[in-house]
Amino acid sequence: MSDIWAVVPAAGSGSRMAQSQSKQYLPLYGRSLLDWSVAALLIYRELRSCVVALPEADLSCEQPGFLKDARVRLCAGGASRAESVAAGVAALPAGDEDWVLVHDAARPCLAREELEALIKAVTDSGVGGLLATPVTDTLKRAGKNDRVSATLDRETIWSAQTPQMFRVGELRTALRQAQATGVTVTDEASAMEAAGFPVQLVRGAASNLKVTYGPDMQLAAFWLKELYPQLTDPAGRQT
Ligand code: C5P
Repeated sequence: MSDIWAVVPAAGSGSRMAQSQSKQYLPLYGRSLLDWSVAALLIYRELRSCVVALPEADLSCEQPGFLKDARVRLCAGGASRAESVAAGVAALPAGDEDWVLVHDAARPCLAREELEALIKAVTDSGVGGLLATPVTDTLKRAGKNDRVSATLDRETIWSAQTPQMFRVGELRTALRQAQATGVTVTDEASAMEAAGFPVQLVRGAASNLKVTYGPDMQLAAFWLKELYPQLTDPAGRQT
């Protein structure tokens, strides 16, 4: 029986948020986005442990909330998301046949149902995969001077989310190859695809948004309240 582990890359600076604080530490209902994102994974009882990759300078700070959970370990992240994930995976005492869930620190609204659907689809089929949603907008490819160069067939296009779940050994290989060949990977699935591994799409929900720009915080507050109705004060102090 393969164990299931998790890695949360949380070493980004969140420059698109126009905030002095790194995005993963922004507070909502008294907890950081990172804390909520880790909590959403810890809900899964069988999860062996979760490695959180932080900016090196933050490792010596006292960690609040779920980051103190016995199943959480910390490691230093890298210069890119892929490097942070590779550092997290390297820190796992996991076997090659085990599974690892990689989840963004900036996706605090992951629901138990979607997490369990991903784990079930992947473990039933033995094929790694990711949560994703079919796009609803018509998509344009931008050419020079923002002139439209093409309209894409939206029937075949999905928007990738996290968690993404792969065999530990295959993910290690894929990340190593991406680094060696200089392929830029913005998620683990891209590295797996480039290495020739099959990847399945598992239908997720729009509520599992990635907080990227300022107004996303209000949306995240809305979805957190849907998930945890007992919450009262979005601006609540960090606990
Ligand atoms: O920048 P973006 O929103 O795509 O980042 C996605 C995730 O990757 C975030 O959780 C961020 O903290 C993480 N990241 C990281 N190390 C980096 C850059 C991003 O762990 N060097």
